[in-house]
Amino acid sequence: MKPRRSVLACPGSNPKMIEKAKGLPVDEVFLDLEDAVAPAAKVQARANIVAALNDSGWGNQLRVVRVNDWTTEWTYADVITVVEGAGVALDAILLPKVTDAGQVRALDLLLTQLEKAHGLEVGRIGIEPQLENALGLRNIDEIATASPRVQALVFGPADFMASINMRTLVVGEQPEGYDTGDAYHHILMTILLTARAHGLQAIDGPYLQIRDVDGFRRAAARTAALGFDGKWVLHPGQIDAANEIFSPRQADYDRAELILDAYAFHTSEHGGARGAVMLGDEMIDEASAKMAQVIADKGRAAGMTRTTRFTPPNARSE
Ligand code: GLV
Ligand code: MG
Repeated sequence: MKPRRSVLACPGSNPKMIEKAKGLPVDEVFLDLEDAVAPAAKVQARANIVAALNDSGWGNQLRVVRVNDWTTEWTYADVITVVEGAGVALDAILLPKVTDAGQVRALDLLLTQLEKAHGLEVGRIGIEPQLENALGLRNIDEIATASPRVQALVFGPADFMASINMRTLVVGEQPEGYDTGDAYHHILMTILLTARAHGLQAIDGPYLQIRDVDGFRRAAARTAALGFDGKWVLHPGQIDAANEIFSPRQADYDRAELILDAYAFHTSEHGGARGAVMLGDEMIDEASAKMAQVIADKGRAAGMTRTTRFTPPNARSE
């Protein structure tokens, strides 16, 4: 799967911002029809998005559109307009405020009909369900498995906090009065565990104090440490931090590649067919290789190059 370390939110009602987004070094751009677009501007935003998707000048970013949620009057026309107008240039639909599997299935069915009707490859357009309320989190397992199109589970912290009556107005910071632990831990871990259980990516939502890059770094580092794959960025100033924080550090990437090479060598016939071996001062085995694989995969997906090589010790002569 392509990386989603940095996911840029871009209002569909703002053609200038969309134009700028095309050249930014993010892994994904999502063009918004939902909360960043005023009701009176939704119809025009659909047209802007279709035009922008069909334009040249995009880099290698995943191109995603966030439609309105299924409880509104806009969702079906959002999907139809965007896929009819620019389906070939669309990688996924971000579906906000998901409450149950039926909402994902409904989108899947609509996408399938549109793909068939317009000669598009059936099943190629992905779905990113966004978890933003208590009901969605309770139903997350069924949501994650409702369609093979689901690629990533996305946290929507602002709506989520509102939905559970959390007493704070600052996304990414702890609610005042909660002086122990992390108030978001359960939600984040539920999203992460579900993503990992089903082979999906886990994406953290926005950090709204866009001028506070240190605050963004702190928030991103927390979810990156848990194992999340990426985070939304709302401003160009957050992009480098996201790409860096959700990529392995060079030293960790080098070490991971080294462990994989050493493990492959030592478990091989000519390397002695041993399962647990020393690499420097560290004992490595199958589980170490699995951890190393995770970091190596992330590094490779991020286009990193290793700066060290494994030199096999003299192969054992039996
Ligand atoms: C994003 O959609 C959020 O609600 O935080
Ligand atoms: Mg939201």
